[in-house]
Amino acid sequence: MAYSIALIPGDGIGPEVCAAAREILHASGVEFEWREYPAGVAAFEACGDPLPGETLEAVRGSDATLKGPTATAKGVGFRSVNVALRQKLELYANFRPARSLPGIKTRYENVDLIVVRENTEGLYSGLEHIVVPGVVESLRVITEKASRRIARFAFETAKRQGRKRVTCVHKANILKLSDGLFLATCQEVAAEFPEIAFDDCIVDAAAMKLVMNPQNFDVLVMENLFGDILSDLTSGLVGGLGVTPSANVGEKIAVFEAVHGTAPDIAGKGLANPTALILSGVLMLRFLGEKAAADAVEAAVRGVLAEGKTITGDLGGNATTQEYTAAVIARLG
Ligand code: NAI
Repeated sequence: MAYSIALIPGDGIGPEVCAAAREILHASGVEFEWREYPAGVAAFEACGDPLPGETLEAVRGSDATLKGPTATAKGVGFRSVNVALRQKLELYANFRPARSLPGIKTRYENVDLIVVRENTEGLYSGLEHIVVPGVVESLRVITEKASRRIARFAFETAKRQGRKRVTCVHKANILKLSDGLFLATCQEVAAEFPEIAFDDCIVDAAAMKLVMNPQNFDVLVMENLFGDILSDLTSGLVGGLGVTPSANVGEKIAVFEAVHGTAPDIAGKGLANPTALILSGVLMLRFLGEKAAADAVEAAVRGVLAEGKTITGDLGGNATTQEYTAAVIARLG
């Protein structure tokens, strides 16, 4: 039976990279029933809502969602589609693997780690108020429930993927109550997974160690703000936002998307690199249990990159999005 996939093309280069990923996923041999739904600035202009109810319902009711980047217009009345999706659908875990890719010149080799970020609370709880004029307070909320949920997600991911170690990244030496709770909860969950090693690292030291010896890390779990910052850092270790996939996962719902934005400077020109969204599609295949197809698509992407003949401008080549897509499909056989 075909998987029902909600496809959100989004804004800017979104439709171009979505078309490429869809073509490649189709070529993997897995059956999909794709339905397209609007979100972002285009949806806002069409119906006054950047995340229409119809799109939200489709994400809720589909086997999985593949999403292109959506622009966040500045000004009142326009909420970030990504933040709204995560909050309304309780997509509590942000999953960001960073794995070295062949043919992409970076400062490091053999990086293969995963950042698991808590997506729903911390400083992103949106609880801000004016104490007195000129003084604003933002509340950084850490709950035992959300900490336990994200810790379990990290350990279950580690177990499923045959990973050896989970590292809790925190600032419990200073934020003794909030990060103390996060760390203590991770330690409790670690006891449920004796086969997986556990350690912890203070966030500033983690940033230093990640840029000195990223190969020493396996799975990292952390609260929202630390995860936001360190997951971009880890993308940089393996070639940047253009090649890094991600997933936002809830109890039953999962949204897969590239971590880059709408790239307005190259939108509509056929120059976008679709790698990040294709690799997000690989994560989607694994989520759906289609391991063989996931491995095949990933190997095809890595093969084209390693060969280095048909790569897009951002990676130093001159292939169009379509030429790169065709090269990946040719390798799928
Ligand atoms: P951006 O990621 O769109 O662009 C930064 C630079 O990277 C640009 O020079 C762009 O051409 C290049 N680039 C990005 N993705 C590329 C790709 N796949 N292939 C080739 N080059 C690529 O970041 P920016 O300019 O800060 O944001 C533009 C818009 O995107 C904003 O409205 C922002 O809110 C939105 N955005 C949306 C995200 C999402 O929906 N997940 C994530 C980040 C930003």
